[in-house]
This record gives sequence, C-alpha cells and structure tokens, in this order.
Amino acid sequence: MNIYEKMIKCALDSQKRAYTPYSKFNVGAAVLTESGKIYGGCNIENASYTPTICAERVAIFKAIYDGEKKIKKIAVVGKENSLTFPCGVCRQVIREFCTIDCEIIVIKNEQEYKIIKFSELLPYSFGPEDL
Ligand code: THU
Repeated sequence: MNIYEKMIKCALDSQKRAYTPYSKFNVGAAVLTESGKIYGGCNIENASYTPTICAERVAIFKAIYDGEKKIKKIAVVGKENSLTFPCGVCRQVIREFCTIDCEIIVIKNEQEYKIIKFSELLPYSFGPEDL
C-alpha cells in the first residue's frame, strides 16, 4: 500500500467510529505527520450542537497531543461518491500545523480521490508567522 492508500483506509475506518445521532453525516479523516505516522479521526456531535467537533480536528488534535509538530497530508471522507471538503474552522486549524506543501486528499470512495494543495483551500491565510 502506498501512503495515499494507507491514508484512505485509515479515513474510511475512522468514519465508522463517527458519533452523529443528529446529522447522521459520518465523516472520517486521516492525518499524516512529518514523522510518518498516521492518525485517524471522526466527527463527534453533541445534543447542544455547537460543541460538535469535525473529524479533521479530532485527527489533528490526537497527533498534536501525541507530540507531533507538523502535518504533511490530511485525507477526508464524507458522503460516498461526493467530495466533502474541510469546513472553515478546520481549514484554520490545519493552517496552524500544516507544512508549506501540505496536501488535502478529498475521498470520493475507496478508489477515487482528489488531491489539492492546502494553499488552494485557504489562500491569503493568517497563521503563526503573522503574529
Ligand atoms: N463535518 C466534519 O466532520 N468535517 C467537515 O469537514 C464537514 C462537517 C461534520 C460536522 C457535523 O458532525 C457533520 O459533519 C455535519 O455538519
């Protein structure tokens, strides 16, 4: 398995762990760190709605908690056969930890995916170096 296949498998496995009694919209994510580890995440909802956290942020925060410093790639999967892009809040969180050449892998299904650069997802961004 190449790194994309590994990340897609991790995102699809993670999607199965989603806690989504309200939206029923299950999302899975996988983060590849600079040290070469892959961390999975799923969305976790809440009866009070706003505390809901997206799959991408769960995966990122697990990696950061584990001592990882930088994210090289992040894969996301939502509804089958359509492209689910990271929400605005997650884009800003990715911005905090991503490498300059970070890739976003948007998964349509196990075989089909689209790769875009993070800079296309959040151009003219604000990050740690701007303070
Ligand atoms: N969601 C994610 O987990 N990631 C995204 O990029 C888009 C939205 C979740 C949040 C919520 O649990 C559900 O999808 C519907 O918005």
